[in-house]
Amino acid sequence: MSPVPARRLLLSAALCATIAGLSAALAADFDLPTKRTDLTDADAKRVADVTRPTTDFSKAEQYEAMQAGGATSIDPVTQDSFSHISATIPFEEEQPFRLGNALFKKLWVSAPSSTQASDGLGPLFNARSCMSCHVNDGRGKPPEGGVSATSMFLRLARPAKTADEERAIADADIVNFPDPIYGHQLQDLAVPGLPSEGKMKIAYTEEPVTLAGGETASLRRPHYSVENLGYGPLDPTTTISPRVAPAMIGLGLIEAIPEADILAHADPDDKDGDGIRGKAAIVRDHRTGKPALGRFGWKAQNASVRDQSADAFSNDIGISTPDRPDAHGDCTQAQAKCKAMPMGVQKRLGNEEAPGPILDLVTFYSANLAVPARRKASFPETLKGKQVFYESGCTACHVPKFVTRRDSLDKAQAFQLIWPYSDFLLHDMGDGLADGQQVGFASGREWRTPPLWGIGLTQTVSGHSFFLHDGRARSLTEAILWHGGEAQKARDAFASRPKDDRQALITFLESL
Ligand code: HEC
Ligand code: HEC
Repeated sequence: MSPVPARRLLLSAALCATIAGLSAALAADFDLPTKRTDLTDADAKRVADVTRPTTDFSKAEQYEAMQAGGATSIDPVTQDSFSHISATIPFEEEQPFRLGNALFKKLWVSAPSSTQASDGLGPLFNARSCMSCHVNDGRGKPPEGGVSATSMFLRLARPAKTADEERAIADADIVNFPDPIYGHQLQDLAVPGLPSEGKMKIAYTEEPVTLAGGETASLRRPHYSVENLGYGPLDPTTTISPRVAPAMIGLGLIEAIPEADILAHADPDDKDGDGIRGKAAIVRDHRTGKPALGRFGWKAQNASVRDQSADAFSNDIGISTPDRPDAHGDCTQAQAKCKAMPMGVQKRLGNEEAPGPILDLVTFYSANLAVPARRKASFPETLKGKQVFYESGCTACHVPKFVTRRDSLDKAQAFQLIWPYSDFLLHDMGDGLADGQQVGFASGREWRTPPLWGIGLTQTVSGHSFFLHDGRARSLTEAILWHGGEAQKARDAFASRPKDDRQALITFLESL
């Protein structure tokens, strides 16, 4: 297969218009709260004061080093820095966290097996455990030197083809349509006796970039294709979207940010004329079927940690849960042999391969991994970099702070001042980063702003420094230089700064 052709990057004009219109009216149409209801007037004022962006870069802000509020981990920096429990979890709840951790690491095996409680893997899968991709609870990376691509995979989807299909996306009933044979994701592994779907192939071409002062950098542009397709060609309209696994920290806190505070930054029609739009991703909550604000995944396609985890069990490992009950995972009707493989459901344990308690525990673990405290937050070089970050316009999307809801069901997440550096909205990031794949309200050019907390520990925890949705950037500098579209101005501001300022900005990012 050749690299994604340019025509796939185009959404139908009608659909774009529908989405923009809906997005503008979204609060009303989808009944999402536009005002916090968890605060007294006095609290609301305190929250507004404390989350206002700073203008004083002479010293660190109060609490800034504790970037996840009371949940921040202050353990020494090691390879395990992303694997600590949130500091707000009471002692009695450490046991479910530990059980969740064991399940996150558990290697699933194909059915039927002698260890019946662990079987049900696949039939098609990308990895045998959550931890194989989220190594040390950190981020994944693209494969190097021909090794298989564990912590990265290709999502597959075709665009809407009929008015009804377009409507289903606009109503947030569905995020897109699977490839008719390969389904939602290319699984590069399969249980014995079943062909795998194929292998992702990446070729990079280097493109030089000149920065202020004559310094040069080089960006590697990826070209994706699929080799060894096991079930015939992909549908000609299927798009492929590469994704690396993100770090697992602070996710419960992100879930506890009030909708209204995220929606307050949305400006889908750029009414303020600053060139930054920011569009809310509206998706369906798996369990209630109600519209909800998407926050997780590179295109904000999932509203909760639980939904994202159930999808991972189903698509990535091929394990059914009460929320995604098909034990055949991502096998399609066209993959008859896959549909006929034995399943791992043990009736005495439940109706699914991973019954309710397993999903609950894994979700609890995934939601409560602590964000480490910042290092060197008050050093002059860091503060200078922070100023460059604000002055370059990075905070238009990488919004520094939020205060989580007071009425959060999980007390450990409630009413914390947190510093994720994200607005959790979708932005057009330009042609360079476009994958051409629509996911719900996210067009083929749009990505969710990723949180930046913990990004400075990538090398320590994950042993690499690959960034962005597909790990194409080999350094923080390259990650910034790939920014285009709505972020073009901020990228250019960075590139035109003197070398010292650019270095200071990187020092700031490394302190997060
Ligand atoms: C094959 C690799 C792989 C496996 C296995 C895997 N993940 Fe992931 N995970 C990813 C990728 C890639 C993403 C980003 C998904 C996207 O953007 O579509 C992700 C995203 C997530 C997120 C959202 C994080 C965020 O910041 O938005 C959560 C939560 C998560 N995974 C939990 C799990 C759990 C729980 C399991 C095990 C049941 C699991 N994952 C197994 C690769 C994997
Ligand atoms: C218009 C919104 C926007 C602006 C402005 C913006 N970013 Fe981003 N940033 C994003 C999005 C969206 C991504 C994810 C893009 C992708 O993965 O393809 C991202 C990714 C990143 C990443 C990589 C994160 C990761 O987890 O891999 C870094 C680092 C980063 N931005 C820093 C900056 C800095 C520094 C600036 C200012 C010079 C900036 N950004 C301005 C939206 C923005």
